[in-house]
Amino acid sequence: MTDSKQVKPGVAASLTTLNVVVAGTGKVGAEFLRLLASQQQRFAGQIRLNLCAILNSRQALLSDTIESQAWSSAFSDAKPYQQANLVAYLAALPSPKVLIDITPSQDFARLYPAFIAAGCHLISANKQGVTLPGAEYQQILQALVRSGLRWLSNTTVGAGIPVQRVMQELLQSGDQIREVSGVFSGTLSWLLCQYDGTTAFSELVLQAQQLGYTEPDPRDDLSGKDVQRKLLVLARELGAELELADIELEPLLPAGLADGDLAGFWQQRQQLDLMLAEAYAKATAENKVLRYAASLCLVDGQVQAGVRLVAVDNKAPLAALAPCDNIFVITSDWYQQNPLVLKGPGAGLLVTAGGLHADLAELVKSVR
Ligand SMILES: NC(=O)c1ccc[n+]([C@@H]2O[C@H](COP(=O)([O-])OP(=O)(O)OC[C@H]3O[C@@H](n4cnc5c(N)ncnc54)[C@H](OP(=O)(O)O)[C@@H]3O)[C@@H](O)[C@H]2O)c1
Repeated sequence: MTDSKQVKPGVAASLTTLNVVVAGTGKVGAEFLRLLASQQQRFAGQIRLNLCAILNSRQALLSDTIESQAWSSAFSDAKPYQQANLVAYLAALPSPKVLIDITPSQDFARLYPAFIAAGCHLISANKQGVTLPGAEYQQILQALVRSGLRWLSNTTVGAGIPVQRVMQELLQSGDQIREVSGVFSGTLSWLLCQYDGTTAFSELVLQAQQLGYTEPDPRDDLSGKDVQRKLLVLARELGAELELADIELEPLLPAGLADGDLAGFWQQRQQLDLMLAEAYAKATAENKVLRYAASLCLVDGQVQAGVRLVAVDNKAPLAALAPCDNIFVITSDWYQQNPLVLKGPGAGLLVTAGGLHADLAELVKSVR
């Protein structure tokens, strides 16, 4: 009788296979898949990373083994995507298995309980899962604990900057985090680093739009809602039971410009220009710079969280920022007078796909 663990001479010892399912074939998903072949090689000898499903909102390729270098041509054989087929396929896959969510979809994130029930670890670039209403989020956490599965979501804030990982390491080591503040939007970082009062702010918004830095409607960036969502992710990472609405939000938009059609917004852009010109003049007179900042304070079990335009001292950590960069300033028992600062690109295909691979490498440590 042959022992399945017995190895013939010259053949590598039997390796664990980690089945990898990739949801989302857009900009970041394609970059993740492009990097996968070299990661498979890098891990060869430690674990077999087996790409066995790729899907987007329209199509799904559910196949035992997909050559990662040739994923794009293999995907031309994909069938129409059906949620029930995906869940049944995941349930039948041998463990360990991981579903990597590189979609922006809340509907897809709401399927996490089904993916966990099918035995999948989760890796998310999609912020929607980690910011679901508290009750749903807690149910996901409880299901993960019951199943002994992991959920890594480092790229949901700051792209590849390992902010959640560093926070977890401090907490697991016995430190207490008191405050997290920073600039979490690459677009708003670019706009406020460029703005020096000589060009109308709305002209810079137009430039940012032409450079592809903004959402199609730039008010989606100026609303601050994405920054609010990212602050919720970090608050929950610290164990704070917050909802999105608990985070105060002051948009980088005058009241009245947030609603209505885009053409109307551009017609009234002078109001935005005036708002920024006034704030800039006041800040400059006080030797300060403008930043669109998020801040979270934890004092005696109370949480204060807000997102707003602020004027910061030009020697403060938030002032020393390259356009587009994100910055995270962590104050803790161990980092009191001189906070821990993480800074770097907060968006970008390579750094985000790289951050997803860092999450995958972290998962590999616990399953191989
Ligand atoms: N871009 C960055 O720098 C960056 C940084 C950090 C995090 N992220 C996050 O990464 C995720 C992906 O970003 P991206 O720029 O790659 O977006 P994208 O180019 O718009 O691609 C999104 C992909 O998700 C698929 N999708 C959408 N809804 C789906 C659903 N309900 N079920 C299955 N698939 C669905 C889309 O399918 P179709 O192809 O059929 O449309 C598409 O393939 C987002 O959550 C984003 O916030 C991005």
